[in-house]
Amino acid sequence: QSIPPSRPSDPPIHVAVVACGGEDRVEETIVNIKALVLFSTIRITFHVFADEELQPSFRDRIKKWPSYFRRQFTYTIYNITYPEDGQQENWRRLFKPCASQRLFLPSILQDVDSILYVDTDILFLSPVQEMWGEFDKFNSTQLSALSPEHEDPRVGWYSRFARHPYYGVTGVNSGVMLMNLTRIRNAEFKWQQMLLPLYVKYSLNLTWGDQDLLNIIFHYNPEMLRMMPCNKNYRPDHCMYMQMCASTAHEGVRVMHGCRRSFHIDKWPTFRSVYAAVRDF
Ligand SMILES: *[C@@H]1O[C@H](CO)[C@@H](O)[C@H](O)[C@H]1NC(C)=O
Ligand SMILES: *[C@@H]1O[C@H](CO)[C@@H](O)[C@H](O)[C@H]1NC(C)=O
Ligand SMILES: *[C@@H]1O[C@H](CO)[C@@H](O)[C@H](O)[C@H]1NC(C)=O
Ligand SMILES: *[C@@H]1O[C@H](CO)[C@@H](O)[C@H](O)[C@H]1NC(C)=O
Repeated sequence: QSIPPSRPSDPPIHVAVVACGGEDRVEETIVNIKALVLFSTIRITFHVFADEELQPSFRDRIKKWPSYFRRQFTYTIYNITYPEDGQQENWRRLFKPCASQRLFLPSILQDVDSILYVDTDILFLSPVQEMWGEFDKFNSTQLSALSPEHEDPRVGWYSRFARHPYYGVTGVNSGVMLMNLTRIRNAEFKWQQMLLPLYVKYSLNLTWGDQDLLNIIFHYNPEMLRMMPCNKNYRPDHCMYMQMCASTAHEGVRVMHGCRRSFHIDKWPTFRSVYAAVRDF
């Protein structure tokens, strides 16, 4: 399999992932990138934000891939950084750098129009162009797309436990996020200036870090968010007791999210097997 040279009509596909922690995060990120490349027929530009000590191992693993595979994408590795906006000390003091890195992508990636952000524990099982096509469905006020955190408010986490505002009836999950960075940069509400005061106000009530902040932001600005179906961010919660995600019935799982460490433990054999299959390819 070899991808033909880019055509002018191809959208420039940018994917961002943030890897911090131990060596297992490197493996997860590598498997994540491999699946994205494997299922796509278009070149992808990856922006990998990683702890400095993980960067060599990451480069080494990519070098070992066959050249025909490596030709299908380019990547840049970045240190975890805060924007140079005079607020660095506050950011540093308040935020865990890794968890919040994605919130700063609009100012860090100044030259990038739009990005697909993925958590490390994401596996694409479908061409990335399909996900990217969601951007074409944005109306004039939408600047991001996410899937619901849950399908049923009676058993959803936010609807039962959250101590802060959240989007819609079940909140949103931030593991797979489309961001039109141009729109976020141009938005009247000044994304970056908003983060710090929100964080200060709600810090004692946040459980899931930046995902909670995103829920608060889109609670107050619902016109800016587009919802994606659950099969574009399919999690163990969707099949723990029964099938909760209707969009899988005809389209299957397009993007799998191995949260709750489901790629690594025995509790959800399907999640673990899919991960192992891509890892071992
Ligand atoms: C990351 O930071 C270190 C020191 O702070 C620097 O030496 C290195 O070049 C940086 N790496 C990247 C990818 O920017
Ligand atoms: C993002 O928004 C800008 C401004 O509205 C638009 O020009 C651009 O085409 C959008 N990007 C994508 C991928 O839709
Ligand atoms: C945080 O949670 C407490 C307890 O539920 C609530 O009383 C308080 O209003 C919350 N803080 C904010 C800023 O919403
Ligand atoms: C775009 O869609 C969102 C979500 O459905 C909606 O709240 C918003 O009003 C729409 N914007 C326009 C300009 O129609």
